[in-house]
Amino acid sequence: MKKFSTKYGYFSADGNEYIITDFKTPKPWVNVISNGKYGLVISQTGGGFSWDTHSEFNRLNRWHQDLVQDNWGKYFYIKDNDSGDFWSPTWMPLKTDLDFYQIVYGFGYAKFISEYKGVKITLTVFVPIKEDLEIWNFKVENLTDQKKSLSLLTYFEWCLGSSSDHHREFHKTFLETHFDNQLNCMTATKRLWEIPLGDRGHWNIEYPYLGFISCSEKISDYDGDKDTFVGQYGSLQNPAGLFASSLSKKLGKWNDSIGTVKTSIEINPKETKELTFFLGIKKNKRAIAQSLKKFSSPKNIDDALIEVKLFWQKIFSNLVIDTPDSAINLLVNKWLRYQAIAGRLWGRTAYYQQSGAFGFRDQLQDSLVFLPINPDKTKDQIRLHARHQFVDGTVLHWWHPISETGLPTKMTDDLLWLPFVIIQYIDETSDLKILSIKEPYYDNKNKKDTLYNHCVAAIEKVLTRMSKRGLTLIGAGDWNDGLSAVGLDFKGESIWLTEFFYLILIRFAELSKEISNDTDYKRYKRKASDLKKAFDKYAWDGQWFWRATKDDGKKVGSKSSPEGKIYLNAQTWSVISGIAEPLMQKKAMDSVSKHLLKKNGCLLLSPAYTKPDKMIGYLSRYAPGRRENGGVYTHAATWAIWAYALLKDKENAFKSYKNLCPVYNGLNPDEYVAEPYVTPGNIDGPISPNYGMGGWTWYTGSASWFQKVIVDWILGIRAAKDGLVIDPCIPADWKEFKVKRNFRGTTFNIKVFNNHSKKEKNILVDGKMISGNLIHATKKKHSNVEVYL
Ligand code: GLC
Repeated sequence: MKKFSTKYGYFSADGNEYIITDFKTPKPWVNVISNGKYGLVISQTGGGFSWDTHSEFNRLNRWHQDLVQDNWGKYFYIKDNDSGDFWSPTWMPLKTDLDFYQIVYGFGYAKFISEYKGVKITLTVFVPIKEDLEIWNFKVENLTDQKKSLSLLTYFEWCLGSSSDHHREFHKTFLETHFDNQLNCMTATKRLWEIPLGDRGHWNIEYPYLGFISCSEKISDYDGDKDTFVGQYGSLQNPAGLFASSLSKKLGKWNDSIGTVKTSIEINPKETKELTFFLGIKKNKRAIAQSLKKFSSPKNIDDALIEVKLFWQKIFSNLVIDTPDSAINLLVNKWLRYQAIAGRLWGRTAYYQQSGAFGFRDQLQDSLVFLPINPDKTKDQIRLHARHQFVDGTVLHWWHPISETGLPTKMTDDLLWLPFVIIQYIDETSDLKILSIKEPYYDNKNKKDTLYNHCVAAIEKVLTRMSKRGLTLIGAGDWNDGLSAVGLDFKGESIWLTEFFYLILIRFAELSKEISNDTDYKRYKRKASDLKKAFDKYAWDGQWFWRATKDDGKKVGSKSSPEGKIYLNAQTWSVISGIAEPLMQKKAMDSVSKHLLKKNGCLLLSPAYTKPDKMIGYLSRYAPGRRENGGVYTHAATWAIWAYALLKDKENAFKSYKNLCPVYNGLNPDEYVAEPYVTPGNIDGPISPNYGMGGWTWYTGSASWFQKVIVDWILGIRAAKDGLVIDPCIPADWKEFKVKRNFRGTTFNIKVFNNHSKKEKNILVDGKMISGNLIHATKKKHSNVEVYL
């Protein structure tokens, strides 16, 4: 049964695949495929690129960001040697009108099924677990009554190293290609790596890898030069090499280096032949040879794909929900998790934004996705980020793996995400031992300090950034990167940050108490209470909380502001942090419902800035209604669900989920434009001519938080220090739902009955009624819970 079908595609019945039936989607719809080290992003017409370890520093192939043409990828040409017909099995680059063309995206693979003049090709692309390579497996079927003689040619441009190497006349002089007959493989490397490493000046180092392309069939011909293969003034739709009887075999250091290899097959009528191309980045030829040997049998290739599928199903199996809303089920059970892990924690790249770096706050938040599944992975992320903190508590806003260089931040909130995520981790696991794990600082590798002290360093630093009236100073921004100039002189204050900091102080004080650090406990309690006093005194704007003050003292996000009068985060976090009085929380969220909750979720602010404000920052320079400038910013919009749920506002909690939900928005694809199976970073707001258009899909923050707020706050099954809380905030017309959730070693099978006929509200754990709504951890492997609401 097709699910959520539109004119462009649908989800498979089991939710494991999205099938694109019309490849002319309104924008490229991609899959980010990664095993945590090697990865690739691929679009429905075969565009995209691959990388090892860092999607910007170590790219296999050149790619340029053009979401209109989407004409950079690793491409194939198929040629019928008898008829002279030719086509591409991913439509691009030849753009032949195929008789049939469908794309299937699954977890860890993409499948392109095409038919042209009696030749059916099923092309499956995937990255095996723990391998620095990608497999392009062709199953070619001759549907005709005549024998077919086909040639297959590949085409891509070697990048090898830093992207984007747009100055190609410079970069091409360092690239070199080779062909190894014995390995049946073209290799390529570069004599320069444009990253800040090495001890003899900049860029003065070798690229230490070999890019390669090989094939399971004998490579009969090849070309390492665009000049000869495409031809001067030629095009990818009409490359000279496709019509030549043989290729130029040009290799070496003097070319505009490409990866074109050719192989030929003969297929009898009704016969299917299988062949596979292997591409990747390896240290040396020996490593290439090992992998090629490993995948020399078709069975090993099939097994490797099965292994990938099982890997993802295992990740999905630890948290399974079953609700009356099948879009929620699809997202939470599979796609959000896949996006957060493959796209954000591993690839850290997609079509709208390529990064490869770790954002201090970004991947920490993204790693929350692992809490109910495998909290050790969150712990690893916490430790990694702690190592990118300076002794003074400040951090790198982002840093690059490989070079380990980054941008020291003057944003105040960045540092606080470390304690935030540690608190979440302890709620999940009760593992206080994490606080005594030691990690060094970025600027002093010899100083190994406990994670507790890393948190203290962050908190103490923020305590030095307080305004005279006791509110937190924003510096170069807080969560909202675009508020980049509000507080550059360290005079501007932030209300959102004050709220966030309050939560950190309260929760961290509790942790200090747990480990018997009474001094810190008292200090942070006192600081929290001071913060609340200042907040109560200054933050209210009449109908909502204002957002910030600029260095010149003028308010941002206030009724007195000319534009950007109300900001979402200052309202949602007044509730989430608990800093505001209940009545004010309610009023603030009423203002959200009135001014910000729109058809695609909650806007980040309103009205959008139409005039750039130098004292606010680049946020005000975005096109009005786009991204942080008055669009729906998914990351923040998920927090609205949380805040409404805290206020027990079932209707708006669900509405703010449903309006944001990509599966539902995707039912209106020509307006929404973006992929329906992943969250977008942003959706255009009402002031934009493209109101409702999603963009920046696969972006950070959005998927992990969406999963968390749905499970923790709509379904209301969440980890707390003392146990598992059952506190649903579901629509009145839901009769029941189920959650299978792992919690501290026990698999809880929870059934919730809503508006049931029983008189009492109660919770039964393994048949026994409990008082309250907190289920304590148990030593049992399984536990059944019935909840009557
Ligand atoms: C981007 C940044 C993230 C920030 C958000 C809001 O997603 O990566 O760190 O919080 O924008 O500006």
